[in-house]
Amino acid sequence: MNVYDGQRLAALMESRGMTATTDPADADVILLNTCAVRAKATDKVYSALGRIRRVKKPDALMGIVGCVARESGADAFRRVRDLNFVLGPQSYHKLIDILDNPDAKLLNIDMGGLEKFDALPPMTRSPLVAYIPIQEGCNHCCTYCIVPYTRGRELSRDPIDIINDVTHAAQTGAVEICFLGQNVNGYKFADPKSGQTYRLSDLIQETAKIDVIKRIRFTSSYPTEMTDDLIDMFRTEPKLLPFLNMPIQSGSPDVLTRMNRPNDVNQYIDIVNKLRDARPNIQISSDFIVGFPGETDDDFEQTMMIARKIGYINSYCFKYSPRPHTVAATMSGQIPEQIKAVRLARLDGLLNEIQREFNDACRDQVMECLYEGPDKTGMHLVYRTPFMQQTIVARPTDGPIAHLARIRITDANKASLRGEIVE
Ligand code: 5AD
Ligand code: SF4
Repeated sequence: MNVYDGQRLAALMESRGMTATTDPADADVILLNTCAVRAKATDKVYSALGRIRRVKKPDALMGIVGCVARESGADAFRRVRDLNFVLGPQSYHKLIDILDNPDAKLLNIDMGGLEKFDALPPMTRSPLVAYIPIQEGCNHCCTYCIVPYTRGRELSRDPIDIINDVTHAAQTGAVEICFLGQNVNGYKFADPKSGQTYRLSDLIQETAKIDVIKRIRFTSSYPTEMTDDLIDMFRTEPKLLPFLNMPIQSGSPDVLTRMNRPNDVNQYIDIVNKLRDARPNIQISSDFIVGFPGETDDDFEQTMMIARKIGYINSYCFKYSPRPHTVAATMSGQIPEQIKAVRLARLDGLLNEIQREFNDACRDQVMECLYEGPDKTGMHLVYRTPFMQQTIVARPTDGPIAHLARIRITDANKASLRGEIVE
């Protein structure tokens, strides 16, 4: 979602004749697009602001946008004196106001609902992967999570607006559509006129009809909202990639109960089995939190067990971080940092091992991959497999770069694959 928000903000500034720079000393407007999910992310924002304010031009506008803005509110102006604007994740289209009136200070952390989607100018050129938000906010109150506070209650966009965005992206260069939402598979829009209810499966079917769109995916899914119509899409819609992000967070029913998440691990496994029945090669990714309040050694071992059993790829684990406005922050049994660090290292090690096994198993396979960009050296090209692994190939000596290429995987390590384009 943050990538999408950043792209829209960049498009807004470009529509006002500005161009991007990576040098803060050169910028007229400095904007930090922020995430507040873990305390570390919030701290980083303030240390970056401290660094930037020392090098920026005296009259450059500087501000924060997104969840840290919403979390900090007016306090952000007290922490960083020369901030000009603080805009929450649902009001960042108000950036226009400060560009028009640069002498004022602007604070807007209103929950404006879906207003921002229509208030921003459309992007003139779509990246190859177009991120299309379909719902915003979350009604699942996981006890550790600040998102229901920063992004608000769940709202689903009108499917007509969504399909308009998809069509526009397709017409301006997109090859892959990634539907976005904090609870993306909970998408539900009841049309007041027809009385019909639209689900994510309807959006996938409609999008698949567009010829130039070759790949479809969505993130992030809530396990118990994985309805049969959506699972069925993996059986019937070949453009839907064989990859699904469906976080479990913990393998312990006790921890899951305290997290206020679905705590029946067998039900989660049943959903994965149904998905595998629909698409035998599907791969699942998850987020994990270690060191949640009250997590025992035995609870943690259950997380290790589920990670191995499902064989998650492309997954992340985090140390539990107490966040303001959340229930878990006040729970007893907070776990010492040292124990969190040991558990994180063990789970990280296991996730890397599983990833490595999967990457190894990809050797000699030919996969259709989507171009992402040149690597840092400019000597190689980076593509993404249908399972979202990065694949590095040599830059062709002549001819245009293929957006979609059939690539034979020749080598693998834990972080990426190497391959060669098959003619
Ligand atoms: N502490 C640690 N990790 C968290 N996440 C969300 N809130 C917290 C928290 N308070 C993780 C979850 C979620 C991902 C986006 O961030 O794993 O899936
Ligand atoms: Fe946060 Fe995701 Fe839980 Fe919603 S489902 S409260 S976004 S962790």
